[in-house]
Amino acid sequence: MAIEKVGVVGGGLMGSGIAQTIAQAGYDVLMAEVNQELLDKGVGRVTGAWTMLTGKGKISEEQAKEYRGRFRGTLDLNEFHDRDLVVEAIIENQDEKKKLFKTLDGILPAGALLVSNTSSLPIVELASVTNRQTQVGGLHFFNPAPVMKLVEVVRTILTSDETVETLKEFARSLGKTPIVAKDSAGFIVNFLLIPYMLAAIRMYEHGMATMEDIDTGMKLGCGYPMGPFELLDYVGLDTTLWAAEAIYREFSDEAYNPPTLLRRMVQAGRYGKKNGKGFWNLNEG
Ligand code: CAA
Ligand code: NAD
Repeated sequence: MAIEKVGVVGGGLMGSGIAQTIAQAGYDVLMAEVNQELLDKGVGRVTGAWTMLTGKGKISEEQAKEYRGRFRGTLDLNEFHDRDLVVEAIIENQDEKKKLFKTLDGILPAGALLVSNTSSLPIVELASVTNRQTQVGGLHFFNPAPVMKLVEVVRTILTSDETVETLKEFARSLGKTPIVAKDSAGFIVNFLLIPYMLAAIRMYEHGMATMEDIDTGMKLGCGYPMGPFELLDYVGLDTTLWAAEAIYREFSDEAYNPPTLLRRMVQAGRYGKKNGKGFWNLNEG
């Protein structure tokens, strides 16, 4: 099917990066948030990236104007009535996502695809509250979405071949490489990445090394662009905790059982880069 108009729900870290990426690829993009303050923040993040890219000489003023012309924010989901594809990128909470899928299913045209950017939650459960179960799947972007080249296309037990092929083609049209994962908690990348990040927290909890040395170890010893604590702060500690809990629920494997310190960080309201408080400034009082 032809995709021209895309909706993105959630204008946080991921939603704004996804909306930016899709608008840059030539699609018309509408991005929704829950209130005006968060919408302004999300829209500002997208347009700010275009200003940054213009400043660096990576895109022309003309291109930035074109991107801005096909992107806008809204607080009204009814405006999604003409979207061919909607990417859900709201908080990692299954009840909230289910409510949203049900609402969107009642608004979108019959042929539209509805996908989730969830890191770990079962997508078939989202499909089950809609009347378009074969047209629901996952489109899992990586942070920062405009830069990272991978997209996981998640196929549930109900997703049709046509939907999977359309999503793969769509990912390619964004300049990404798609890989296909089953609808199993953590898909491919987070199934490997989450236990690595949790192991780093356990090492620190057990006094085996400082956070700085753990980060330096993985950056210089393995060539990773960020150490695990830097990455945890970048991804979001709340998102990491919810994703780990979801994979642990599914597999009962202790490697995914969130360490107490991660819970305490989230209970303390330290979510990482997104709210300016994370592991990197934990010891600054
Ligand atoms: N749009 C377009 N380009 C952007 C951009 C944006 N919004 N933001 C940054 N860029 C570009 C910059 O212009 C820059 O390009 P040049 O090098 O050509 O100038 C490039 O991206 C790199 O940016 P920076 O110079 O600011 O930063 P950096 O070199 O330190 O790299 C990084 C930053 C790409 C984030 C790198 O540190 C990295 O790859 N980190 C690891 C990220 C990672 O592992 N992500 C996956 C997280 S897990 C996940 O996402 C899944 C989940 O479900 C939790
Ligand atoms: P975030 O907290 O930065 O953003 C979530 C946004 O969703 C918030 O701004 C919130 O106001 C908004 N929201 C909540 N309910 C909404 C609703 N009903 N309608 C519209 N907006 C709503 O979180 P994030 O890091 O952007 O994560 C979003 C999703 O992407 C999660 O499912 C997460 O697991 C997944 N994800 C995150 C990363 C990452 O590195 N952070 C990477 C890949 C996937």
